[in-house]
Amino acid sequence: MSTILSGIQPTGNLHFGRYFGAIQNWMRLQEKHDCLYCVVDYHAMTMPFQPQKLRQNSWELIFNLLAIGIKPENLFIQSMVPEHTELNWVLNCFSSYGQLTRMTQFKDKSSQSADKSEGFISVGLYTYPVLQAADILIYRATKVPVGKDQEQHLELTRNIAQRFNNIIGKEYFELPEPLYTEIPKVMSTADPTMKMSASKGDKHNIDLFADPARIRKQIRSAVTDTGDTPAGTMSPGVENLFSLLKAADNIEAYNSLQTDYAAGALKYVDLKEAVGEALVAISTPIRERKAELQADKKAVKNQIKASSTEIRKRAQQTVKEVKDLVGLANVRF
Ligand code: TRP
Repeated sequence: MSTILSGIQPTGNLHFGRYFGAIQNWMRLQEKHDCLYCVVDYHAMTMPFQPQKLRQNSWELIFNLLAIGIKPENLFIQSMVPEHTELNWVLNCFSSYGQLTRMTQFKDKSSQSADKSEGFISVGLYTYPVLQAADILIYRATKVPVGKDQEQHLELTRNIAQRFNNIIGKEYFELPEPLYTEIPKVMSTADPTMKMSASKGDKHNIDLFADPARIRKQIRSAVTDTGDTPAGTMSPGVENLFSLLKAADNIEAYNSLQTDYAAGALKYVDLKEAVGEALVAISTPIRERKAELQADKKAVKNQIKASSTEIRKRAQQTVKEVKDLVGLANVRF
């Protein structure tokens, strides 16, 4: 059975864009495959961050993911498996400096980092994709569910694996493939020309864990027509509301409102009402489940520590084999 691995940074809140764009897919995959989902706290150190908040953010994300329904045995925190960083070093030595300098995410994020902290850009941000390669290869994962923005990082991972195999003269790592699934593109309701995002401010994302009143209010104030949409085409705001309705799987309301739209009889209030209700219907059981989990935080943390310990054994096996293969000293217990 092939192993699937994906990672999520404990930065920003968990909004509907992330839910529909990634986590919902993670949920589907875990029904049929060996899946590992990692809260990548080492990665979260690559941008300016607050040490007193990092651990709390990681646990918050764990609770959120469990509340959504990610299975605890599939879930772990990256730094609980420190072997990721050990493999990271080895892989650094199989990574092309030239290829790393071409990473577009580094270019984008380094300017954000410089803006935030007096010109400071960490080396960690630069080598971030190599750590990502270690996350994947340490479990010999062959499928990686990611968004298109991670294409270059996956390509790098494949190149690292290939170079490793060439140098040791053995097909040790199977080359991992990205798993692009058809996912709805969720835009900001406050500005439907840009993606829903945690980093652009509260009004540009709808938190999955927000109370129903807030969710409804954000949808009610969604931008619809700005008056500059050519006749006969749907405005980006209205299109986004329809996509949300579809993503929320309310197909009946979707079809009936589309019919209204086609007849020129769509009332935006009706569309917004339907979207608001659909999002609240998704978030309510998740919020309730989170409250239940939070009632016994210790039990949940112990469960994740146990799963991390199990998952770590798999990582340790790979690191041991890799050290043997590349000629590093290996202590045998
Ligand atoms: N770089 C990914 C992102 O920003 C997060 C990530 C870290 C990841 N390690 C990973 C994704 C391993 C897939 C596999 O979204």
